Amino acid sequence: MKMNKNEPCWCGSGKKYKACHEKWDNQINILKIQGHQVPEHRLVKSPEDIKWIKKAAKVNNGILDMVGEKIHAGMSTEEIDQLVYDYTISHGATPACLGYEGFPKSVCTSINNEICHGIPSKDIILKEGDIVNVDCTTIVHGHYADASRMFIIGEASEEAKRLVQVAKECLEVGLKAVRPWGHFGDIGAAIAEHAHKNGYSVVTDFCGHGVGNGFHEDPYVHHVGIRGTGMVIAPGMVFTIEPMINEGVSTLYIDRKNGWTAYTKDGKLSAQWEHTILVTDKGIEIIAY
Ligand code: MF3
Ligand code: CO
Ligand code: CO
Repeated sequence: MKMNKNEPCWCGSGKKYKACHEKWDNQINILKIQGHQVPEHRLVKSPEDIKWIKKAAKVNNGILDMVGEKIHAGMSTEEIDQLVYDYTISHGATPACLGYEGFPKSVCTSINNEICHGIPSKDIILKEGDIVNVDCTTIVHGHYADASRMFIIGEASEEAKRLVQVAKECLEVGLKAVRPWGHFGDIGAAIAEHAHKNGYSVVTDFCGHGVGNGFHEDPYVHHVGIRGTGMVIAPGMVFTIEPMINEGVSTLYIDRKNGWTAYTKDGKLSAQWEHTILVTDKGIEIIAY
């Protein structure tokens, strides 16, 4: 598609094309000719989209801060769900998980050997030494922000604390690997290197993802990879990085009764942190954390 330089830009900014994404298109075309896989225009968020995604993130960040203040031993994961639901609704937002592909609750709470998609329940009581991932996604005005954090209940074992710390570092090295006009493979390479160096494995059955105008959008963001391969990372893309790091094997099984919860195959611990980020001309902006 050839655009007139003085037409409004395809991104929806309302600016003239020549002052907006003309350079972006030129850069993409060069990379495409060189044989790289490049993102389509639909993967670029408009300034209006970004405004709403940030509003969703503000609520989502507030939820995880609030959970961090209230989480304690003896509490059920159902109580966490209720806190998340009430906070979300009272801030004029919608919990994205509730009813998503039949998911029954407003948040995922995954404990110890649970990798992800733990379902809150009145029968699951947090106890001293547990490590818990709380993964929350919020919708404001049809726009999504997605993040998760680990919480340590009371005093945990040295092994558990080290896994939680290294999983956090895996997200951080993944974030550092994101460069405008770099590749998605750079992210997975950095994460897997850091996990393996520490004697841990990386789950490959779940990925990060584009997010913002929907819950799970293109592209998939793999947490293992090869540098310089995969889709080109371009300014204006919004996506999550959410590595799941295991103490033992990377393989898993899914709860037969609820059809959702993923557990480590060997019963060993798993930890995960997730941010939603925006790629800018210079680097990244962390939106939800
Ligand atoms: N928040 C999860 C993610 O990071 C998805 C949870 S889907 C649900 O992508 F249905 F389990 F809530
Ligand atoms: Co999430
Ligand atoms: Co996600």
